[in-house]
Amino acid sequence: MCGIVGYVGEKQATPILMDGLKSLEYRGYDSAGVAVYDNGLNLVKTKGRLVELEKRLEEFPVTGIVGIGHTRWATHGEPSEINSHPHMNEESSMAVVHNGIIENYMEIRDDLLAKGHVFVSETDTEVAVHLIEHYYNQNQDLLDAVILAIKELKGSYALGVIHEDYPNQLIAARKDSPLVLGLGEGENFIASDIPAILKYTRNVYLLDDEEVAVLTKDSITIYDLYRDVVTKDIFKVTWDVAAAEKDGYEHFMMKEIMEQPKVIKDMLASRIYDDVDEVRLDNVDLSKEKLSQYSKIYIVACGTAYYSGLVGKSLIERLARIPVITEVASEFRYSDPIIDKNTLMIVISQSGETADTLAALRLAQAAGTHVIGVVNAVGSTIAREADDVLYTLAGPEIAVASTKAYSAQVCAMYLIATKIAMAYDKISIEEFRIIRNELFMLPSKIKSILDKKDQLKALAEKYADSKNVFYIGRGLDFAVSMEGALKIKEIAYLHAEPYAAGELKHGPIALIEKSTLLVGLLAQEEFYDKTISNIKEVKARGAKVLAIAMEGKNSVEKVADDVFYIPRTHWMIAPLLANIPQQLFAYYIACALGRDVDKPRNLAKSVTVE
Ligand code: F6R
Repeated sequence: MCGIVGYVGEKQATPILMDGLKSLEYRGYDSAGVAVYDNGLNLVKTKGRLVELEKRLEEFPVTGIVGIGHTRWATHGEPSEINSHPHMNEESSMAVVHNGIIENYMEIRDDLLAKGHVFVSETDTEVAVHLIEHYYNQNQDLLDAVILAIKELKGSYALGVIHEDYPNQLIAARKDSPLVLGLGEGENFIASDIPAILKYTRNVYLLDDEEVAVLTKDSITIYDLYRDVVTKDIFKVTWDVAAAEKDGYEHFMMKEIMEQPKVIKDMLASRIYDDVDEVRLDNVDLSKEKLSQYSKIYIVACGTAYYSGLVGKSLIERLARIPVITEVASEFRYSDPIIDKNTLMIVISQSGETADTLAALRLAQAAGTHVIGVVNAVGSTIAREADDVLYTLAGPEIAVASTKAYSAQVCAMYLIATKIAMAYDKISIEEFRIIRNELFMLPSKIKSILDKKDQLKALAEKYADSKNVFYIGRGLDFAVSMEGALKIKEIAYLHAEPYAAGELKHGPIALIEKSTLLVGLLAQEEFYDKTISNIKEVKARGAKVLAIAMEGKNSVEKVADDVFYIPRTHWMIAPLLANIPQQLFAYYIACALGRDVDKPRNLAKSVTVE
């Protein structure tokens, strides 16, 4: 899981590569490097973040108009200078950057070692370098060599290759790792993600699996593995580069939290109308006729996206009375799932590149299952491979911790569940209108929570020294508490456990002591009294309690140390609102503890390896 960028043109490559790498740093940041051609290949790389590479480049500047760059998140071999990319062959005549995992690298490495190749790093990537070199030595044709090499690679890769025998050329290839090609005027680019090149061009080709591209400053030619030319439409990027910048906020995470009213407005804009009594999901067929083909529904995703799926499960079951199985993708794919053409599968992914989710999608499709992708990144692999796509329209999410994408995913679940319930005649027009009104009011209700963010800042500062945090709730509140606990774990590094409120007594209550913080979710009115009883139990054992409750439910003040109120709403809309204070609370605790909010340790934004 790394970021790669490449340039071929007339300008100096290094500043362009560094610029691109900065916007890709969310993909990994334990080491970085560039290789640029100028009468030979010049390589500069270093352990640490991009600032370290910048310092190194000041000491050892590299010039040239063709180059590749890389920011790494270690998979094979510790973060170190030697393991950082680009990697080179023995003669330093070729440089390669790679994102992904080459699964059969051990056997290829043994074979190449036997043939006399010398390896210097512990990476899987280095086998790609020597394998290309091996084939290149046979007929001196770089494109052929790349094709022959990738035919042998198992696993995932996005590759950028430059060679001193081809000083005006850059070669790129991909399988199961994202890669886009940017078309400029007298210059062309490769990158793991669009924001890296958006400053230079809005016209991109989305490279597909097992395609290889040859880029010169004036042309991009794409080939399949038979070296036949592949023609492709240009994908025009319509969103702005400013959308991928901080807009004056200290962190991307805060910027993204604050964008949520607009995100939800955009999500709803073309899907519900105040004078139309239905949900319109243009490219997703959830008609009665289509739904009658399915005997069960699976929702599959990872992490935060999975938690949004838990909300979806509960809503589809409660509104439409259809059983839904929700599964994390890494388990689903190895569980020998009972799926067939009578199964509907919904996969949820912000990046659209998550390896396990993608594998789950492919497994399902191979069994004849129809897959709907709920995806944020337009043109991503999951978006392209799913049978139908519902875009969450949240715009680029840069902070590693997902916030606005989660809200958009939950909103997608509202739309899908309502649509399915209506198709089955399980909710009346009157009920639909109530839900629709509540959906329309969501952006302003989110804003009213955001307007009270200083209250959450003060609470975060009060509780920042907590050693253990429990998040509890029942029903949909429990689903939301899982997301709350994940957020505080990943950005504040606090140990946090989500628990179904009724389960506390069955063991974990033994962990409650004076330094424990309990965040009690009370946004589901029907469970209010029951959860209050559970809160009393932990309060009696010395824990501090922060409650998140609906306005008007003031009796909680008698049992909680602090209460944050969210606006009143319909039970199904409450999860999205109840999560907003959790996001802000986790954010401010992370700030109070001096954490690296946007780039928490050990994490990367896009998990494109298993
Ligand atoms: C947590 C977070 C992750 C992702 C997960 C799936 O804040 O962002 O748990 O939700 O890695 O990623 P996507 O949605 O890109 O498939």
